[in-house]
Amino acid sequence: MKLWDKGYDENQRVDAYTVGQDRQLDLRLAKYDVMGSMAHIKMLESIGLIEHDELPVLLDALQEILRTAEDGTFTIDDGIEDVHSQVEFLLTQKLGPLGKKIHSGRSRNDQVLVDLKLFMRDELRQIAEGVVALFEVLQEQSEKYKDALMPGYTHMQVAMPSSFGLWFGAYAETLVDDMEMLVAAYNVANQNPLGSAAGYGSSFPLNRTMTTELLQFDTLHYNVVAAQMSRGKTERSAAYAIAGLASTIAKFAMDCCLFMCQNFALISLPDELTTGSSIMPHKKNPDVFEITRGKCNRLQSLPAEISLLTTNLPLGYQRDLQLLKDVIFPATTEIKDVLSMMCFMISHIRINRDAINDPRYDYLFTVEDVNRLVLSGTPFRDAYREVGMQVQRGEYHPTREVHHTHEGSIGNLCTAQIKAKMERAYAKMK
Ligand code: ARG
Repeated sequence: MKLWDKGYDENQRVDAYTVGQDRQLDLRLAKYDVMGSMAHIKMLESIGLIEHDELPVLLDALQEILRTAEDGTFTIDDGIEDVHSQVEFLLTQKLGPLGKKIHSGRSRNDQVLVDLKLFMRDELRQIAEGVVALFEVLQEQSEKYKDALMPGYTHMQVAMPSSFGLWFGAYAETLVDDMEMLVAAYNVANQNPLGSAAGYGSSFPLNRTMTTELLQFDTLHYNVVAAQMSRGKTERSAAYAIAGLASTIAKFAMDCCLFMCQNFALISLPDELTTGSSIMPHKKNPDVFEITRGKCNRLQSLPAEISLLTTNLPLGYQRDLQLLKDVIFPATTEIKDVLSMMCFMISHIRINRDAINDPRYDYLFTVEDVNRLVLSGTPFRDAYREVGMQVQRGEYHPTREVHHTHEGSIGNLCTAQIKAKMERAYAKMK
């Protein structure tokens, strides 16, 4: 049975093909669909399209459905196309003709839009919470190991001294930029599309400001065509934010794989967080970081996937848009999962304080020694040459003294300033 039933049966193959994964995926929208309906009918009552005494009856029935959506017992029946149809079906089943009244002045097109806006707003909030948690773990590790030196590489060649404090802290600060992108995506999501109906508005005198306030949106998509065009844009903005965050985490995961390699041996994990081999008895592999790297690299294809799905679609609703859910829904789950796993793993990373003393890292200190000469009066180019000649002749002996003081350097990590920067960014989401 379809909402749009006109007395003929749709071919079953057409039905299965066009409904696709909706019956499953839409379960994640159920809560938001009911919230949208509640706001819509309160507004309909205010403009006289629902009677004063009908409103509480409808709200009670919706509240009951909301409860099932929240406790996970809401399902979409076989033969019902999507969440929007299921909610209306349940209402009509319970209340008869009254249930049929709620769809005045709206379409499933703006219903799914409002569901997705509310869904995305919540998901982005949860992702941001995960980012803050990861940020805190990284900052803790950074402070804990701020005195421990590690080799810094450029071109994969030994370059200059770095520190574990600098390494952990670098990823913490990079997460602030990722947070800014999440905030931007959040702002795009935080606009009310309800009232755009099929995409061209309605001849009813809808009060869109009222639903905006009821659903606690920051503002509304005023132009009804723009509201409809936000389908895809909302997802694309979130996709960019998720992909940016994923790129940070993928790089960190790659660093961990590299630094756990015996040739580097800069970090290690407790045995129980590593994985073994079926043939090589000595193995303690960094599979968690590898899976993380793979998942995050895959997540970086999100914006491209969404672009290809929506490129050259004309304005107005097109069914292609339904497929956005297939792409973005698993992605939000995945990034949250990755964030929580990385928090757990990072808090268990052990560092090798001695690694830096290996003779292979002697040349890390050449710049320190050049600078020391400069500070005692030798012009930089002469000092550079002097140390360069020592290296050339095999006579260079590092002093191994590192004294960095400027902002953001080994000796002055600016952890508090970076934390304040994160707090400023995150505050924009609340
Ligand atoms: N499942 C549909 C979607 O996600 C809901 C909107 C259906 N609208 C329509 N005109 N067929 O896009």
